[in-house]
Amino acid sequence: MEKNKKIVIANWKMQLSPAEASLQAKNFKKLYNKAGLEKKVEVAIAPDFLSYLEVAKVFAGSNIFLAAQNGYSETKGAFTGEISLATLKETGCTYVLIGHSERRQFFAETDESINNKISFALQQDLIPVLCIGETFADRKDGRKDVVVMQQVQNALRGIDIKPSQTLIIAYEPVWAIGSGQAMQPAELKHTAMIIRQSLIDVLEDKDLPLVKIIYGGSVNSENISSFTDLDIISGALIGGASLEAEKFIDLIKQI
Ligand code: PGA
Repeated sequence: MEKNKKIVIANWKMQLSPAEASLQAKNFKKLYNKAGLEKKVEVAIAPDFLSYLEVAKVFAGSNIFLAAQNGYSETKGAFTGEISLATLKETGCTYVLIGHSERRQFFAETDESINNKISFALQQDLIPVLCIGETFADRKDGRKDVVVMQQVQNALRGIDIKPSQTLIIAYEPVWAIGSGQAMQPAELKHTAMIIRQSLIDVLEDKDLPLVKIIYGGSVNSENISSFTDLDIISGALIGGASLEAEKFIDLIKQI
């Protein structure tokens, strides 16, 4: 992945049927190629697992990358309902979201499981997209910075990451996700600096990998450039505004 290129990752969550996902993927591919945006912005799309192989077929041989919304940290075994990160790698996946707040909140994802997944993803040469962010209650209690610091450190403690590898940290305040209320850019800049410092602290004296911090939470075509214009912010993770190909392209054009 290029150092100075911005990245946009679409998180389609559980919002599209396989037929809808395939249609959106095809439409998006057409529009993305026509707009000639690939030099400026790298795009990855994370469909749900039932749509994943179909979407992979659409993007095969193109410059659009495939991402997974989750994955499990074992190669094979009796793990009912899970999909291995190793299998994802085999099927053309490049990025994997790890520890999205919806997984922490609804599926009991813990710091320990997140740490295991990051470690295993790196072993497979997948690019982990570590998702972190404080809740509204954390923020109200004045604990935002501490929560963010702890999430970075717990996810990455003891992780073996090579200088040649890439790590993406998606900072997504939980209160900003799907709420229509994004964070102010000045506060984002401050928080991103804390994230960067926490990362340097936890990786200790190791040579740093390529790290990109991206923002997520109610990003749309009107506000995206206020985040991506910040030097410390390398892109965005986008839910709602990524579901329709035409609107998603308009958003990417604003970067
Ligand atoms: P949103 O979701 O863009 O709909 O706020 C972002 C996310 O959850 O990754």
